[in-house]
Amino acid sequence: MAFREDMGIDLGTANTLVFVHGRGIVINEPSVVAIDTETGTVIQVGLAAKEMIGKTPASISAIRPLKSGVIADFDIARVMLRYFIGSARRGLPLLKPRVVIGVPIGVTEVERKAIMDAAIEAGASRVFLLEEPMAAAIGAGLDVEEPSGNMIVDIGGGTTEIAVISLGSIVNSVSVRIAGDALDEAIVHYVKEEYKLAIGERTAERVKIEIGNVFPLPEYDELEAMVVGVDLSTGLPRKIIVQGGEIREALDSNANRLIDSIKGALEQTPPELVTDIVARGIVLTGGGALLKGFDQLVSRETGISVIVADDPLTCVARGAGAVLEKVDVLTRLAKMSRAR
Ligand SMILES: Nc1ncnc2c1ncn2[C@@H]1O[C@H](COP(=O)(O)OP(=O)(O)OP(=O)(O)O)[C@@H](O)[C@H]1O
Ligand SMILES: [Mg+2]
Repeated sequence: MAFREDMGIDLGTANTLVFVHGRGIVINEPSVVAIDTETGTVIQVGLAAKEMIGKTPASISAIRPLKSGVIADFDIARVMLRYFIGSARRGLPLLKPRVVIGVPIGVTEVERKAIMDAAIEAGASRVFLLEEPMAAAIGAGLDVEEPSGNMIVDIGGGTTEIAVISLGSIVNSVSVRIAGDALDEAIVHYVKEEYKLAIGERTAERVKIEIGNVFPLPEYDELEAMVVGVDLSTGLPRKIIVQGGEIREALDSNANRLIDSIKGALEQTPPELVTDIVARGIVLTGGGALLKGFDQLVSRETGISVIVADDPLTCVARGAGAVLEKVDVLTRLAKMSRAR
C-alpha cells in the first residue's frame, strides 16, 4: 500500500508518460506546452497543446521543451513535469510519491539537477534518475542483472539510443540525433522537393505513421496516404496521394544512418557480449520501433534477429516504475546521485 503512488516517468522529446504502481500508465501525452507569449501564462499542456502546433495565433506559442532528448527550455519543462505529476496524483492519498525518471545517457549535471528539482517541486518525496536505455530494457522485460549481453535500440522522437547492457550496467552506448522528428522532417522535405507542396510537421508525422516504411516489400509499396498542403507557387491548397515506395525513398538516408550507428555499436562491443546478443536478438523500443520494416532492415543488415518489444512506446515508463521495486537498483541510483 505504501508504494501506491510511486511513479516511473518517461520525460521524452515527443511524449511524457507516467506509470503509477497499481494503476499502470496514467499519463501518456505529447511533451508540449502552449503559452500566452504576452503574459507568459500556460494555456494548455499535453495533447491539447500539441493540437495547437502550427495553428497558433501570434500571441500563443506551442513549445516542445525537450529537443533531441534533452531539455531545451528549462522553465517550460518544469511547468510540464509539475503538471503531469500533479495530474497523476489527482484523487490519491496525500502520501508523497517516490519518482524514478528516465533520462538520456549524456545529460549534464545541470540538467540532472533541473529535472530533480522540478520533480521535488511537483511533490515527489524522492527522485531517482535512471538512464533511458536501462529503463527501456527493464520495461521490455529483459533481465538486465544477468551476466549476459543485451542490445537495446530505443528510437524516440529526438534521439535513438543504442546500448549494450550486462550485469545491471551499460557497457557501451551510442546516441544519435536521428529519430522520429528527423523522419518527419525528411517527409516534409521530400513532399516539398517532389510536389512543390508545403506541409507541416504534424501532417508529416501522420504520413510516417500511416505509410512510412524502410524495407522493400510490395505490400509497403502499395500503401497510400492523402496529403493536403500549400502549393509553393500558387499559395493555394492542393491535395496529393503519396505512396509507400516514395516515403521509403524519403526515409532511406536516415534509416541507413541508424543502421550504421547500430553496426558501430556492435563493433565496439566485446566479442563475448556480441555472442550473447546474437543468441538473444536485438530489442527495439520507443515509437520508432513501430516504423514498418525497421525490424526487418536491422535484421538483414546485421544478420542478427530482431525483437520489437511489446508496447514499445511505454517501455521506459514501465521500466522506470519497475525499478522502484528493486531495492538494490534504487540504492545504486541513490549512490550515483550523491557521488555527482
Ligand atoms: N506507428 C509508428 N510508426 C512510426 N513512428 C511512430 C509510430 N508511432 C509513433 N511513432 C513515432 O515515435 C516517436 C515518439 O516515440 P517515443 O514516445 O518513444 O519518443 P520520446 O521518448 O518522446 O523521445 P526521446 O526518447 O527521443 O526523448 C514520434 O516521432 C512518433 O511519430
Ligand atoms: Mg524515449
